[in-house]
Amino acid sequence: MTQSPLLPVLDDITDALAASGHGSLCEGAVFVCVQHLLDSTGSMIEALIRLGARPSDIFILGKRYSSSPEVLDRLRSIGVQVSDAGRPNRWQEFGKTFDGDVRRMWEHVMESRLRDSQSPVVVLDDGGHCILHTPKQLVSRTRVVSVEQTTSGLKKIARARFPVINVASSAVKRYVEAPLVAETVLAKTLASVPDLPMRSIGIIGFGSIGAALASSAAAKGNKRIFAFDTDPVKVGSSGSSVHCCGNLSEVLKNADVIFGCTGENLEIARQLPTLGGKKVLVSCSSEDREFHTLVQQFYKNNLIAFSEYEADIPLKYGPTEIRLLRGGFPINFDHSPESVPNEDIQVTRGLLLGAVSQALVCSETPAVICNLDPSLQRFVLDSWFGAHPEKLQKFQPELLSPFSAPDWIERESGPHPGTCEGLSRVFRARRQSPSAVVAHA
Ligand SMILES: NC(=O)c1ccc[n+]([C@@H]2O[C@H](COP(=O)([O-])OP(=O)(O)OC[C@H]3O[C@@H](n4cnc5c(N)ncnc54)[C@H](O)[C@@H]3O)[C@@H](O)[C@H]2O)c1
Repeated sequence: MTQSPLLPVLDDITDALAASGHGSLCEGAVFVCVQHLLDSTGSMIEALIRLGARPSDIFILGKRYSSSPEVLDRLRSIGVQVSDAGRPNRWQEFGKTFDGDVRRMWEHVMESRLRDSQSPVVVLDDGGHCILHTPKQLVSRTRVVSVEQTTSGLKKIARARFPVINVASSAVKRYVEAPLVAETVLAKTLASVPDLPMRSIGIIGFGSIGAALASSAAAKGNKRIFAFDTDPVKVGSSGSSVHCCGNLSEVLKNADVIFGCTGENLEIARQLPTLGGKKVLVSCSSEDREFHTLVQQFYKNNLIAFSEYEADIPLKYGPTEIRLLRGGFPINFDHSPESVPNEDIQVTRGLLLGAVSQALVCSETPAVICNLDPSLQRFVLDSWFGAHPEKLQKFQPELLSPFSAPDWIERESGPHPGTCEGLSRVFRARRQSPSAVVAHA
């Protein structure tokens, strides 16, 4: 029986796999996952079970700052081996303590399930921790395949030891998911500081998320948007609604709500005392990287204050009053079951489920970071727009029209082509016709 929300994109993928003879694709595989414990993650795990995975062979570690307790209980109730990251008793950058949690999960999986087993192992990761800590002895004796969904996770993988299916830089994630995330980030920021005037917005890091945030804010009528990226070409192409800043200080000076969209620690502490007034800092990326120097300084001076990672942090630098929302963790991960509405984030869950099928079906994939298959990406889009035609209104036709060309999707999805005939056949054959994407474009 299904416990998690029904998401049509996931159903379409499992149906397409079943119709092409891959209905038991996950049978016998062991899944070792780092995932946000959200409603839609539950739906994706149930889809793996429909494809033959045994619940007791699915091990999941939640990322604590995002985990929804209801989702954790629900997954446990269906027999999945799920736990949450531990709570440290003093502040430390999340990633460092989390690495310890991930190592302990692997020790448990190795002891309890994989000691002598030859079962294929699928590592489903969010942030690179689980891939990096995959035990050497496992890689040397059994088939390991993996999926990474964040750009920060990809950056950590200097040399792949087994195939890594790259969802992070897939065209659908960059161009379609980013606006959905941006919309929720703005809504959740307003909800957590309802009295916030948002007269001027600063954006640091003008990649997929930063650019989408600027478009969303501009569409809501915000006329004072200041952006900076270390890559000048990025902000240079931002259009007239955004003031391109030549450095970080310019953003900090002009904006009163500043969004960090880089995934990197930002060295801003020295500039804060010169600003004056009130500033709100918001992270949109993953974990607590962007403002971790500020958080570190706060807890160094307030040891007693540490209770839980995600409390808002008040800071004072000379005449400048700072409020760092959710302890520097991404604003849209707040222990609720949705980081982005389920109806929308099913696009990402569809990409991940598809990536798992790519990892298992395409058995010839070498040990490289490999693009997500273009037919699969198109299938996910068509399935989503097929189930929710009203979502087409969220996008300019120019943004969607390139998706009619598989070559373009491939080029925009990373350096290593991910096409594998077996998988392309599954998703080309079942694509709805006429395509909603092409019709809209
Ligand atoms: N909150 C969410 O739900 C959510 C969803 C998707 C991605 N993310 C995360 O958001 C972050 C950004 O993702 P993205 O897809 O936009 O990545 P991206 O690589 O497209 O963009 C990051 C940008 O930051 C710039 N940058 C890096 N360091 C900088 C610095 N010190 N100052 C200014 N600019 C700098 C880079 O040049 C790049 O343009 C990642 O950490 C990603 O994992 C969060």
